[in-house]
Amino acid sequence: MRRRFLAALGGVAIAVSLAACSGEGAGGGGDTKGAEPGDLTIGVSMPTQTSERWIADGNSVKEKLQAKGYKVDLQYAGDEIPTQSQQIDQMITQGADVLVIAAIDGTALSGQLQAAANAKIPVISYDRLIRNSPNVDFYVSFDNYKVGVAQANALLVGLGLQNKDGSKGSAAGPFNIELFAGSLDDNNAHFFFAGAMDTLKPYLDAGTLKVKSGQTKIEQVAILRWQQETAQKRMEDLLTSSYNDGGKVDGVLSPFDGLSRGIITALQNAGYRGGAKKMPVVTGQDAEVASVKLINDGVQSSTVFKDTRLLADQAVVAAEAFLKKEQPKANDTRTYDNGVKVVPSFLLPVQTVYKDDIQSVLIDSGYLTAQEVAAGRAG
Ligand code: BGC
Repeated sequence: MRRRFLAALGGVAIAVSLAACSGEGAGGGGDTKGAEPGDLTIGVSMPTQTSERWIADGNSVKEKLQAKGYKVDLQYAGDEIPTQSQQIDQMITQGADVLVIAAIDGTALSGQLQAAANAKIPVISYDRLIRNSPNVDFYVSFDNYKVGVAQANALLVGLGLQNKDGSKGSAAGPFNIELFAGSLDDNNAHFFFAGAMDTLKPYLDAGTLKVKSGQTKIEQVAILRWQQETAQKRMEDLLTSSYNDGGKVDGVLSPFDGLSRGIITALQNAGYRGGAKKMPVVTGQDAEVASVKLINDGVQSSTVFKDTRLLADQAVVAAEAFLKKEQPKANDTRTYDNGVKVVPSFLLPVQTVYKDDIQSVLIDSGYLTAQEVAAGRAG
């Protein structure tokens, strides 16, 4: 009933005052307990369509909710913060019953989340933690610190300093590496970098790994909005500023396949192709199809696979719990402090994929087809 009022009247101020007068219990936007799925709408706000993973996430969440009969309002914000804010405002005024949000800037949505709380709409933070707000009810993600650990280990394995089983490798170094991190406004970027740097520290301290540019702080190596072109430009600048003395790059810590492709392009343009100037070990994340092809072709070394189908499942489980006025089951209630509170979380495991794992991990599980890997594009 309330939903119909809101849809008819619109406007956050009205939504807020109606919800405040309605006396509904916590959790669930309105009388959702026992409601027919077809009468319930889940707002799903995704950051961008420039990266495959978010398209896969959006589609999976939508399909899984629709299969259960729910209505889904899926929006992509083109990596523009005001667009995402407006889209969420609109979901609230149109009477969404639950919000699932993957934020562009984790600190920019406090106003929207307050409006959601006033309207008693539960908020599930999807993959990226929303910060500085008490109104985040649940977090579904992967173990983001372990993503960084996996990336650093993959770099060590690629260089021969470590074997896949964690034992000491046959290489001695020293090796020149460069570091990249994601967007500073994405909470995950900090977890990835922390996991990686904790793992690389003993090698950096021992001089086995050297960051020739000297740029080792996250603020120096971060790439705003995870943009491929920005990563390419930074790699080009590093080659000019730090490797024009004949020194060679041996490895690059990259936290995302899109960045890895930019980095690889810069390296290829500078003559890193084979022979004496062979392509450095480049890591990645997300098992994007173009990068899986590069791994298959021996150009990129590895990626960290996060099965977005499983994440979508967890988002659906959490949304349904809130609709039934229950608390979703968390498996971590310690790690994700958003600056105001520790947000109960459900974290999924991650898997490193080298060339040898493409078949068993990505193709056999139906995540990608052999044709897609060969072509380097989806579909
Ligand atoms: C996600 C990564 C993704 C990155 C860029 C992060 O928040 O956790 O999977 O590579 O955003 O889209």
